[in-house]
Amino acid sequence: MFTLDNAPLANQLGFLALVAYIVTLLPTNVRIVFPETKQMKFHRWILKNRRIIGILSFAIAVVHGFLLIKKRDIDLFEPSTCWIYIQGVSSFIIFFLLAITSNDWCVKKLKKNWKHLHNLTYLALFLVTWHIYDKMSDHFSFLTPIGLVAVVSMIVLYLKRRVIEDQNEQTKAQKKLSSPTPLVKISTTSSK
Ligand code: HEM
Repeated sequence: MFTLDNAPLANQLGFLALVAYIVTLLPTNVRIVFPETKQMKFHRWILKNRRIIGILSFAIAVVHGFLLIKKRDIDLFEPSTCWIYIQGVSSFIIFFLLAITSNDWCVKKLKKNWKHLHNLTYLALFLVTWHIYDKMSDHFSFLTPIGLVAVVSMIVLYLKRRVIEDQNEQTKAQKKLSSPTPLVKISTTSSK
């Protein structure tokens, strides 16, 4: 029979880091897919506190990773072991980069690159999903199905947002093409 294991503290922290991380992705994606939610109080609260929630998610992920590395005596400097944990480690590196650049100074210094860097958050979305499935597939805890449903729903929302954005871009381009070219006004007054 299919049974669910207990979730030790390290797993609970991994789950909490995941929840906080998903919360940071909600405002932008929900706003585009469900524009009518834009004015909701909760939505505005997340937008205001998004940076701190992201940093909190990173801090929780640090403790999650640390506890599991200690518990399993994992040596991440050993190439074959590092490969086994590659999804966890790479999403962790992305979380780290996002956390240290989540401040006004970095936004100013990095300019356009800041946005490119922070788009890595969507790569982490896929890496974390892979991480959870890969590490938990043969011994689901009671948190695993909830975590997987949450993260897969977030992926679906993100993909839907991308489709909407692409459609908007196409309509804009078509409108530009079909709009008549403005007539060039020929000045009749001669300039001296
Ligand atoms: C150095 C980085 C990381 C390492 C070494 C690591 C390690 C692990 C391991 C070994 C497991 C399986 C636990 C078990 O078998 O009971 C696990 C599960 C999990 N990890 Fe990570 N992890 C890392 C980063 C992350 C990050 C950045 C997140 C962010 C969201 C995360 C979220 C989770 C979640 C949600 C689970 C499943 C917990 C459950 O369903 O019970 N991990 N991790």
